Amino acid sequence: MTASPPLLEVRDLVKHFPLNRGFAEYLRGEPIRAVHAVDGVSLTVGRGETLGLIGESGSGKTTLGWVIAKLHEPSSGQILFDGIDVTVAQGARLKAWRRRVQIVFQDPVGSLDPRLRAWQVVGEALQGQRRISRAEIRRRVFEMLPTVGLPPDCLDQYPHEFSGGGRQRLSLARALILQPELIVLDEPTSALDVAVQAQILNRLVSLQRERGYSYILITHNVAAVRYASHRVAVMYLGEIVEVGPVRAVLEKPVHPYTKALIAALPVPDARRRRTRYRISGEIPTLVRPPPGCRFASRCPFVIDRCRVESPKLREIPAHPGQRVACHRAEEVADISPLTMVVPPPVSSATPAPA
Ligand SMILES: Nc1ncnc2c1ncn2[C@@H]1O[C@H](COP(=O)(O)OP(=O)(O)OP(=O)(O)O)[C@@H](O)[C@H]1O
Ligand code: SF4
Ligand SMILES: [Mg+2]
Repeated sequence: MTASPPLLEVRDLVKHFPLNRGFAEYLRGEPIRAVHAVDGVSLTVGRGETLGLIGESGSGKTTLGWVIAKLHEPSSGQILFDGIDVTVAQGARLKAWRRRVQIVFQDPVGSLDPRLRAWQVVGEALQGQRRISRAEIRRRVFEMLPTVGLPPDCLDQYPHEFSGGGRQRLSLARALILQPELIVLDEPTSALDVAVQAQILNRLVSLQRERGYSYILITHNVAAVRYASHRVAVMYLGEIVEVGPVRAVLEKPVHPYTKALIAALPVPDARRRRTRYRISGEIPTLVRPPPGCRFASRCPFVIDRCRVESPKLREIPAHPGQRVACHRAEEVADISPLTMVVPPPVSSATPAPA
């Protein structure tokens, strides 16, 4: 018997945003440059599974989410959904597939049209699906609102009449109304206070248990990832540097960048930190990413090989299930994140989008 494919499989996905060439650059025949936002990402998400996606600002998390939901066309690579290549799907097949993957956007305020009432915001996608009466849309939204913890009688309110948590729930209802299988949750709780964050995460987890949804949970909140994810992938400058079971990666990170992320979190006893491995140096630009390991300019364990040869994701025998892109993974695996010192990063500017 052959095993069924994962719900989502992404193979070597690339998304580059080309930048405009100035006239002088054009005359000099300089090639068109691009922001390498996502650069060769491969991952899977199983049915009923949550994959957390973490990494500092600008590492490409949102871009990856948008490419997976096909809101951006990939520059290259494949997206397989249920084993079927949707990168090449068009017309009716693409339309039918779109329902199965939904996204909750990073900015709930900007993504909700302020002129629409709650039932129109949530029911918008139903109108696009097939001919359906206004009364039917209202009925479907009325039934959906309690699922996300909103009172059904708020059907006629405008987005600005909701609290931050209420708007986030509206975004969630809008994604759920099409009964998708995979939901990309882009910072679903970042703008909310801690109590409301917990309510929304609890709701997401119970919906997953009831309905078998798969999630990609994009967030800076490591506690949220620990609570709500099964596996976690760590992104740095457009690449995945470590992926594995959530507890293993967060408690015994192998990649020096993952260690630095964990080290930057508050710890109960700050005296346990010893000043041994200092993360310093500039973050390279995504327009001309350096050859070799992209973390080399900040890594305390860098060796000559790191600057010329790009490390590939590979399994580390002592950490089964964890895959790490680091030439020195075996040597650095047991170094505690608490020994890392992480000052705020210095970034070299990435040019504004064209
Ligand atoms: N439409 C675009 N055109 C050009 N560059 C873009 C575009 N969208 C994103 N980028 C660039 O791609 C890189 C990755 O951005 P992205 O928003 O995916 O990062 P992120 O990890 O989601 O960051 P954050 O945590 O701040 O949300 C950044 O350098 C960003 O400036
Ligand atoms: S490959 Fe080298 S530079 Fe990159 S994380 Fe590993 S040790 Fe550091
Ligand atoms: Mg983002």
